[in-house]
Amino acid sequence: MMPHAHAPRPVLPAIGLGTWQIKGEDAYRAVRCALEAGYRQIDTARLYGNEAQVGRALADSGIDRDQIFLTTKYAQYRPGGEERALSESIEKLGVDRVDLWLMHFPLKDPAENLAVWEWFLGAADAGRVAAAGVSNHSIEQIDALTTASGVAPAVNQVKFNPARYDPDLVAAHRDRGITLQAHSPLRQPRLDHPTLAAVAERRGATPAQVVLAWHLAHGVPVIPKSVHPERIAENYAALGLRLTTADIAEIDALGRHESSLHASGGQH
Ligand SMILES: NC(=O)c1ccc[n+]([C@@H]2O[C@H](COP(=O)([O-])OP(=O)(O)OC[C@H]3O[C@@H](n4cnc5c(N)ncnc54)[C@H](OP(=O)(O)O)[C@@H]3O)[C@@H](O)[C@H]2O)c1
Repeated sequence: MMPHAHAPRPVLPAIGLGTWQIKGEDAYRAVRCALEAGYRQIDTARLYGNEAQVGRALADSGIDRDQIFLTTKYAQYRPGGEERALSESIEKLGVDRVDLWLMHFPLKDPAENLAVWEWFLGAADAGRVAAAGVSNHSIEQIDALTTASGVAPAVNQVKFNPARYDPDLVAAHRDRGITLQAHSPLRQPRLDHPTLAAVAERRGATPAQVVLAWHLAHGVPVIPKSVHPERIAENYAALGLRLTTADIAEIDALGRHESSLHASGGQH
């Protein structure tokens, strides 16, 4: 196997716009609005069916391409479709290359997962993507890819929010030099949870801002999704919110509470 030329480690903007379930002109409007509000990272995926609208919004914004961090993903079901997927994503997005290309989900068969990963690394070596990463992978799956290919994913994008707080997971990514990026940061617990409401009240912020600031306090970049201009701006303003150690500990405890509910089967 040829050694890969490099293992790029991108610095992700702390807050980006998520675009799952935003279709058609709504996607165009949301991306334009986010860029105007100051966002410089957009997260999309081939599966979301909105890459063309995202690309048009980037072009119409007039912002230099090199100022924007663009992530897309490919949900492979078996090795073989990577070339077509990447070519189509690049064409729809209207760019020369994407900044981060993620394997959307792991394949069950480790050999097949590795084959796709090797293809992703080849795309990075060829400069068609600035960095290659994964999503929804366990640490074991990541270690298998790293050991076999010699290159660790730059990023693992996983569901991560206060209800799922797991310090060991954060540490495992940090120890490997892999950026843990949170998807679905606002989904659990509900934003009207009393703990979030209490911290929000103390800090003069909204519960969504508290949750996003909590992620950032743990060094975890986030990609909240909204179609509403006022929420898009509200979420971005979480960059300016500093939580105290006591606030963070209170929110951390929601993860332990939710875990014990899961363990006892009481949650679902
Ligand atoms: N890699 C993966 O497998 C994967 C999976 C899921 C998501 N993602 C990525 O992560 C992004 C974020 O995750 P997500 O879309 O699942 O969930 P999310 O961003 O955690 O939450 C989105 C929900 O919260 C609402 N919301 C947003 N801001 C709010 C605010 N300030 N106050 C109250 N409600 C607010 C949104 O409603 P409105 O839009 O109506 O405001 C929407 O219902 C996705 O869009 C996608 O880019 C990746």
